Amino acid sequence: NQAEKKGYPHFMLKEIMEQPEILKISSKISSEEIKKLAKLIKDSEKVYFIGMGTSYHACIYAEYLFSKLGKLVIACDASEFLNKGVVDEKTLVIALTQSGETYDTLKAMRYAKERGAKVGAIVNILGSTATREADITVLMGAGLEIAVCATKTFTSQLMIIYRLFIEFGKLLNKDMAVYERAIEKIPKYVKEVLNKKDYIERVTKDLKVNNYIFISRGINIVSALEGALKFKEITYLHAEGMSAGMLKHGTISLIDERMDTIAIVPPKNSRVFNSIISNIEEVKARNGKVIAITPVEIETADYNIITPNVIEEISPIIYAPAYQLLAYYKAVQLNRDVDKPRGLAKSVTVE
Ligand code: AGP
Repeated sequence: NQAEKKGYPHFMLKEIMEQPEILKISSKISSEEIKKLAKLIKDSEKVYFIGMGTSYHACIYAEYLFSKLGKLVIACDASEFLNKGVVDEKTLVIALTQSGETYDTLKAMRYAKERGAKVGAIVNILGSTATREADITVLMGAGLEIAVCATKTFTSQLMIIYRLFIEFGKLLNKDMAVYERAIEKIPKYVKEVLNKKDYIERVTKDLKVNNYIFISRGINIVSALEGALKFKEITYLHAEGMSAGMLKHGTISLIDERMDTIAIVPPKNSRVFNSIISNIEEVKARNGKVIAITPVEIETADYNIITPNVIEEISPIIYAPAYQLLAYYKAVQLNRDVDKPRGLAKSVTVE
């Protein structure tokens, strides 16, 4: 009811706006478990992060982060884990699941366990099936999420993974001080992006086509994939997310005035910053509209949703509210059932 929505028209908007507070909680919760899980990552030969939908995108974030410390971890669509996972006693499987009830994720966890692997779970709901079956559970502390569309649980998953990365780095005796310091500023940066909500709403009024592509490079591939998922899930408009590098290998042929591009521009210090700028120019040269979610104004873009310029490692957390709001306002304009999009359930408990 309205009261639970605290005056917001939809749970989704309420949950988007709650993120600065939730991220403060996620930045402190489950410290002992995160340390234990980091140790397990260090001691395991093979490490998989598995999940579905939004949770799978969080797995990709882990893949990029850990690579920075020279650790190969593999992000795997949980529904395909039985088809390609290589599992033995030296394997660690970390399941990401907000609800702790997703059928495909639970099935993959059980498969891993039967083969002697250790199983960890990063979960939001205490007492859910995943928390009962995992060897070690890390709670996210995102609070109840009612909208089907995952928002605050996603950024909270990213926060937990980021902390796992810090603890893992410390176990390797790396200097993680810069990363640790960045944690405290995350809620403030997220708030700065939320403050752009009126501008973002205005931008959505000019999104008039039926096809959208979300692109980025580097760790923000996560943002491109998640941005597209949010958008299609609640607007029912076609959206695809991919690396900007992939554009030239097929999709660019689709770009014209009937396909808009949302470009998620990495922070300025990123080594992929310049390449995304040239990708934006390529899109413009084909008459495609470009909405940039970016730390600096991109002259060639039609719209610039300006974000704080942060270290690349935390940028996927900071960019999330921008594309969440973009999807939200577009869906509202189209009169969609924002909190309960057709054909979707909050947790998918069947195959
Ligand atoms: C995201 O907005 C979706 N609702 C969906 O992709 C979701 O993330 C997926 O079903 C996984 O759910 P889980 O985290 O509860 O396992």
